[in-house]
Amino acid sequence: MEQNFKKGEYLLAPSILSANFVKLPEEIKSVETAGADIIHMDVMDGHFVPNITFGPKMVKDVNGITGLPLDVHLMISEPEKYVDDFAKAGADWISVHYEAAIHLNRLVNQIKDAGCKAGVVINPATPVDVLDEILFEIDFVLLMSVNPGFGGQKFIETSPQKAARLRDKIKKINRNILIEMDGGIGQNNMKMLKDCGVEVFVCGNSVFGTGDAAKAVKDMKKILNT
Ligand code: DX5
Ligand code: ZN
Repeated sequence: MEQNFKKGEYLLAPSILSANFVKLPEEIKSVETAGADIIHMDVMDGHFVPNITFGPKMVKDVNGITGLPLDVHLMISEPEKYVDDFAKAGADWISVHYEAAIHLNRLVNQIKDAGCKAGVVINPATPVDVLDEILFEIDFVLLMSVNPGFGGQKFIETSPQKAARLRDKIKKINRNILIEMDGGIGQNNMKMLKDCGVEVFVCGNSVFGTGDAAKAVKDMKKILNT
């Protein structure tokens, strides 16, 4: 399901990495009913990152059980080989790592040609300046606020400054590019991240690790909406 979001909206994207995979229909239904905006899906290949998750089949099956848009974060080497498969499986947003791409412009256009919103992800140690040229081509930037690979890691404290620098760049070129952040986000730092320009909040452990995902989503949406 494709949906158009605008700048100025704050969106909550629970990451199913922290959900119980054998109870996914209940887990996803509970966050959807509670007001989640997007479902974030982490694809890991054991090569680009030191962990393995799932492939297009999972995206296809999740697409069959939710009306929410699917935000597919590819943490894989040679992403160009798989982008079309994920688009066909029902991904609405696809993001690829700057660090995994040789021909980033071509890759981003491959995502758009496949009918998806295109995003570029940068790791914590990658400066936002590397995005200067590709900003003219993309729909969103995903800033990693932990090193990619695992849920439940500690938030890297220099991440808010990166968001603020990126927000200023986007303002200068006057484009509708959303800023998404991923890793270590919870109710404790959301308000501060909003103030730094983050618009899409990926939350894994702070939603599915709490024992009451629906309550966590409702509380987070309150923070985002005030
Ligand atoms: C990490 C993934 C994240 C992960 C975030 O590599 O990209 O999406 O699910 O998990 P938390 O919110 O627990 O840090
Ligand atoms: Zn992610």
